[in-house]
Amino acid sequence: MATELLSLRNVHAHYGSSHVLHGVSFSLQEGQLLALLGRNGAGKTTTMLTLAGLLPASGGEIFLRDKRTSNLSPEAIARQGIRLVPQGRRVFKNLSVQENLEVAAQRRDTAAPWSLGRVYQMFPQLQSRATQRAGTLSGGEQQMLVIGRALMGNPNVLLLDEPSEGLAPLIVQEVNESIRKLKNEGLSIILVEQNFSVAQELADQLVVLNIGQVAFNGSSEQVRADPELATRHLGIF
Ligand SMILES: Nc1ncnc2c1ncn2[C@@H]1O[C@H](COP(=O)(O)OP(=O)(O)O)[C@@H](O)[C@H]1O
Ligand SMILES: [Mg+2]
Repeated sequence: MATELLSLRNVHAHYGSSHVLHGVSFSLQEGQLLALLGRNGAGKTTTMLTLAGLLPASGGEIFLRDKRTSNLSPEAIARQGIRLVPQGRRVFKNLSVQENLEVAAQRRDTAAPWSLGRVYQMFPQLQSRATQRAGTLSGGEQQMLVIGRALMGNPNVLLLDEPSEGLAPLIVQEVNESIRKLKNEGLSIILVEQNFSVAQELADQLVVLNIGQVAFNGSSEQVRADPELATRHLGIF
């Protein structure tokens, strides 16, 4: 039986007076990958920012197991093990690859702590570029670096906001392969993904947002048996 790790309960979010999330509820199960889908402007990034505490929920609650996180600061949420890799992959361009990883290192009491060595095992390309300035890496390498930085914080939950955006198809495959490996290592992941077939392939659970509300929430088996279930809510595929 899967157990609930991270749950949103009737979450609302505003940017100033603009009401963007209208009562979003869904749960990520321990060790699973949940793909968050929806057309541009649906509220995917807003949901991720709210989960990370960077945008406070204006209503509803978020729980990590039985601990309420929606009233915590972003730093406290990160210390609880929720790590966001934001859309747009920003690295410290003037620091080396290794420095980027080292400044993100954080001790947390976890069973399998991440170290530089383990991140390099996951992303061997980063090791061969360890002393290079991060700004000189390719887009795909920068994406691996920002994921590596999040891993150095020893997450329980990894939030990945469109990691494949703007990358060449071959690199996208590599990034997706890394995400699959992380899932196989037991990490629980919420992945914002534009590509429906990639989402379906990687995810255990699919959630489609539409105008700040959950339009569909189902398992990948359900969706495999009847893809139209999810795609009719997407409109863009
Ligand atoms: N900083 C902001 N200020 C005001 N409105 C915003 C801001 N960021 C996003 N929005 C609006 O919130 C809605 C959801 O955006 P977003 O969560 O970024 O969507 P997605 O990630 O699904 O493309 C959109 O209508 C967008 O225009
Ligand atoms: Mg977005």
